[in-house]
Amino acid sequence: MYLITKKEELTENIYWMDVCAPRVAKSAKPGQFLIVKAGEKGERIPLTICDFDKEQGTVSIVFQTLGDSTKKIAALNEGEYLHDFVGPLGNPSELVFEDPEELRKKKILFVAGGVGTAPVYPQIKFLHDLGVDVDVVLGTKSKTTLILEDKMKGACTNLYICTDDGSYGFKGMVTDRVKALVQNEGKTYDLCVAIGPMIMMKFVAKLTKELGIHTIVSLNPIMVDGTGMCGACRVTIDGKVKFACVDGPEFDAHLIDFDEAMRRQAMYKTVEGKKVILAEN
Ligand code: NAD
Ligand code: FES
Repeated sequence: MYLITKKEELTENIYWMDVCAPRVAKSAKPGQFLIVKAGEKGERIPLTICDFDKEQGTVSIVFQTLGDSTKKIAALNEGEYLHDFVGPLGNPSELVFEDPEELRKKKILFVAGGVGTAPVYPQIKFLHDLGVDVDVVLGTKSKTTLILEDKMKGACTNLYICTDDGSYGFKGMVTDRVKALVQNEGKTYDLCVAIGPMIMMKFVAKLTKELGIHTIVSLNPIMVDGTGMCGACRVTIDGKVKFACVDGPEFDAHLIDFDEAMRRQAMYKTVEGKKVILAEN
């Protein structure tokens, strides 16, 4: 059982939780994920790690309430317990293994979409601690759905916020902002890391391919059990079959068959989840 030491509603239906899990915190790395269960019989929810504190022994998660299982997690309060908190799972971000000197020479752009801002945070925090400059384009529906603005500002060089409705920052999608940065504002990037809804990652990948920027995405959204058992996260990468939870979750975006991955995502979701995906796509 894993004690919830902090719970905060970041915005409507999106929660931050700190969970006491010293062994997970000790080995967690940016890019890895967890399997979380509210109760013994709860559904297994794969969630990317948002932050960790090795000294305090806590791991932070951010999640949106989309169905019964995430609502059950959200109903728990500080001082209560999660039944399962398994991890860290999956491969860390490839940035973790790069020579810091080489990283400091690179121009890196992160693209964070909606709730996908949470898994971007540990990566930019890691790079910030190494003295690596990064730009972040953060897209969300509206000012009211924006999360982690202060944390992101504190860990990157430039934060470019865009909202679909224009209520805050640039009005438009993340792809519009990335295009403007590169084509109108003279920015150049060696690497782009995009994390958000599948549809966003698909179109960021399309754009960065045209712009010639190597791009990595996280395929967390297509996972179901997160342990290599269910087969739901099967994806074709450069013509080869891979499993997002075991071989990923991060992959070279330009080698992914996004259309197949999104069809499979819709197929494996519950009726409740399907409604969300259809609405998103
Ligand atoms: P959202 O629908 O608000 O989209 C976020 C941003 O993505 C938008 O503001 C827009 O700028 C961009 N976007 C959306 N559609 C686009 C398109 N067609 N072309 C270009 N850009 C586009 O996001 P949300 O509702 O907060 O996201 C929830 C989704 O995030 C869930 O589906 C979840 O699976 C996913 N998610 C992914 C990860 C990951 O690791 N990849 C982690 C957490 C959440
Ligand atoms: Fe089930 Fe990867 S999520 S096999």
